[in-house]
Amino acid sequence: MILSWKEISQMVEKEIHNTNFKGQPSELYDPISYILQLGGKRIRPTLCLLSAQMFKGDFKGAMDLAMGIEIFHNFSLVHDDIMDEAPLRRGEKTIHEKWNRDIAILSGDVMFVKAYQQLCKVDTPYLKEILDLFNTTAIEVCEGQQFDMNYESEDEINLSQYERMIELKTAVLLACSLKLGAIYSGASKEDSEAIYEFGRCIGIAFQIQDDYLDAYANPKEFGKKVGGDILNNKKTFLMISALEKANSIQKQNLENLKNTAINADQKIKDTLAIFNELNIADSTKKRMEYYFDKALNEMNSINIPDQRKEPLLSLAKSLMHRKT
Ligand code: IPE
Ligand code: IPE
Ligand code: MG
Ligand code: MG
Ligand code: MG
Repeated sequence: MILSWKEISQMVEKEIHNTNFKGQPSELYDPISYILQLGGKRIRPTLCLLSAQMFKGDFKGAMDLAMGIEIFHNFSLVHDDIMDEAPLRRGEKTIHEKWNRDIAILSGDVMFVKAYQQLCKVDTPYLKEILDLFNTTAIEVCEGQQFDMNYESEDEINLSQYERMIELKTAVLLACSLKLGAIYSGASKEDSEAIYEFGRCIGIAFQIQDDYLDAYANPKEFGKKVGGDILNNKKTFLMISALEKANSIQKQNLENLKNTAINADQKIKDTLAIFNELNIADSTKKRMEYYFDKALNEMNSINIPDQRKEPLLSLAKSLMHRKT
C-alpha cells in the first residue's frame, strides 16, 4: 500500500515522540529533547521515506535512516540559531536563549553524534554508500553556513553566488535525504542521481521561500522572528534582488539601513518598504517557480509509474505554499 506524505510524516512524528533523548547531565540532554519535541515540518525524514517508498514500494526498515537525518537537521538548527542570534524557533525560545550559548554548542555536538549512531543502526548492505553521502553533505552544509556568514559583511554578492550558498547550506540536505532513500532501496545509479537533482532543485526553491517568509510571514504562525534576516544583514534572495533592481537613491537607502544603529523595528519596516517598491515578492515567487519546474523535469526522467511518484510530488507542491 502506498502511503501519502501526511501519513508518513505522522509516522516520523510518532517515532520522535516515542524516542527517549534524556540523559545525565540534564543540562546537556534536556535541550535535545526540547528541540526535537518542538515539532517542525519533518520534511527531510519524510522525503527520505517517500523516496524509499517510490523506488521499492515500501520503506520498511528505513525509519532509523530518516531519524538520523532529522537529528542532524535539528543539530544544524541549534548551531544556526547561535550564529544568527535568533530568539525563536518553532514558536518557542531557541536553546541558547532558554539555556545559554555553551549549552547550545555542546547539546548540538551530541546531536551530531547521535545522528551518526542512528544511521549506523540501519540494517543494509549499503551502509558505506549511505555514510559517504551523508559525510559529504554534512561538510557541504558547513561550507554553505560559512558562505552565509561571510556574505553578511560583503557588498557585491550576486545571485549566482547566493544560489551556490543556499545549495550548500540547505538544498544538498534535502537532496541527500531523497538519495539516501533511493540508495537504501537499491535504486539504479541513474535514478539515484535524478532524485538527488530533483531534491537539489526543490531545496533551492525551499530556501528562497524560507527567505521570503523571513520577511513576509505572519508572525502569529511563522514560529521564527519575522525580519530576522534583515536585522542580521543577510544576503537573502530578497536583498540581493533589491540591490540589483534599486536606483541609486534606493541603493543608498539600503546601504544606510544596513549601517545605521536605528531601532530594530524601524530597520525592518524601512527595508520592507523598499522591497515593496521594487516588487521583490514577485521576483522571489518567479525564481521559486523556475526551480520547481526544473525539479518536475527531473522527476519526469525517472521511469516509475505516476502513482508511486504522487505522494512525493504532492509534498513538493505543498512546500511551495507553506506558511512556516
Ligand atoms: C529550516 O528548516 C532551516 C532551513 C534550511 C531553511 P525547516 O523549515 O525545515 O525547519 P523545521 O524543521 O520545519 O522547523
Ligand atoms: C539555515 O538557513 C540553514 C541551516 C540551518 C543549515 P537559515 O538561517 O535561513 O534558517 P532559519 O531561517 O534560521 O530556519
Ligand atoms: Mg537562521
Ligand atoms: Mg542561518
Ligand atoms: Mg531563514
